[in-house]
Amino acid sequence: MYESEFRLDDSIIYLNHAAVSPWPQRTADAVKRFADENVAVGSRNYLNWVATESALRQQLQQLINAACSDEIALLKNTSEALSVVAYGLPWKPGDNVVITSQEFPSNRVVWESLQKYGVTTRAVDINAGDSPETAILDALDDHTRLLSVSAVQYGSGLKLDLCILGAACRKKGILFCVDAIQSLGAVRFDVQACQADFVMADAHKWMLGPEGIALFYCRQAVMERLDLKQYGWHMLEDMHNFDNKNWEIAGSARRFECGSPNMTGIHALHASLSLILETGLQTIEEQVLDNTRFMIDYFLQLPDRYQLITPTAEQRHAGIVTFRPLNEAPESLFEMLGTENVFCALRGGGIRFSPHFYTPRKRLFKALELLDG
Ligand SMILES: Cc1ncc(COP(=O)(O)O)c(C=O)c1O
Repeated sequence: MYESEFRLDDSIIYLNHAAVSPWPQRTADAVKRFADENVAVGSRNYLNWVATESALRQQLQQLINAACSDEIALLKNTSEALSVVAYGLPWKPGDNVVITSQEFPSNRVVWESLQKYGVTTRAVDINAGDSPETAILDALDDHTRLLSVSAVQYGSGLKLDLCILGAACRKKGILFCVDAIQSLGAVRFDVQACQADFVMADAHKWMLGPEGIALFYCRQAVMERLDLKQYGWHMLEDMHNFDNKNWEIAGSARRFECGSPNMTGIHALHASLSLILETGLQTIEEQVLDNTRFMIDYFLQLPDRYQLITPTAEQRHAGIVTFRPLNEAPESLFEMLGTENVFCALRGGGIRFSPHFYTPRKRLFKALELLDG
């Protein structure tokens, strides 16, 4: 069904969408067209590019159910967006930031770097306590200014209940920041339902886009609270009036984009998201979860050979399944899988499989069969 869009080499079993995804055919076509246009007429049709940029903001708005596309900025990557938040807020000595102990370095080091302002970072063990959410909420106190979590953990694949966390933060006046890179494009995400103030995600994982173009959502009501650290023409309200000496900062999230946009990335991600949105997040989520269930069921049948690191309950995982072999080192099994052209990753203390919605079941089955051997 998706064969015309996903034209991976027959030899490869691609189980690494949680790292960097292959592009759909239409994305490659869009980039080729954009390149050809640049060769033939340069930027003569720049206004069309701006229209694609604006369409991309609307696609991203739809993807996360933002109230308005003015809340969407297009930045370089997740780490940059996290840094915009961390270095935009006015910190006081004694403030703390709460994260989980499973975060990817981007959502840890940026907060730890605030130590120079007297800010402490508390990394919560989300395996302790009745539930991950209880463990996190127990760590919030009167000095907590911000909670920053991944919607889905890159190593274990654990999915948090963002609505519980967001509601508690809003009630306590704590800012809520969500690294959604392991979630957007794989499972449904509703920024209004989960009451996040900031959401960020680069395109190159489940959104099937290229590296170097990222969503940064900033809730309109908190936008003014972020001091700006970079300046340029593109972030001004009247950005095309180059002679304006009385410039004003854009009222929208474009204020976080100081200069010329990544137009190649914009064209690519626009094409990738057209496929995601056409397919529909509900359909994609169902297929992603079906793959996850298929893998989990396989590992549960072999308890003396594999330990599942990913939680088994349906509401606790998305597209990632991480497992540890009990009778050999993960590294040697990973190497064997590599020689058999199974492209996956060593993460979270085990081997991480991350197929996407379109991954043919027979390829996934073949990868699992190799583990029988
Ligand atoms: C949870 C998470 N956050 C962030 C990143 C990377 O962020 P960036 O877009 O800055 O490269 C990754 C990459 O693996 C990730 O898994």
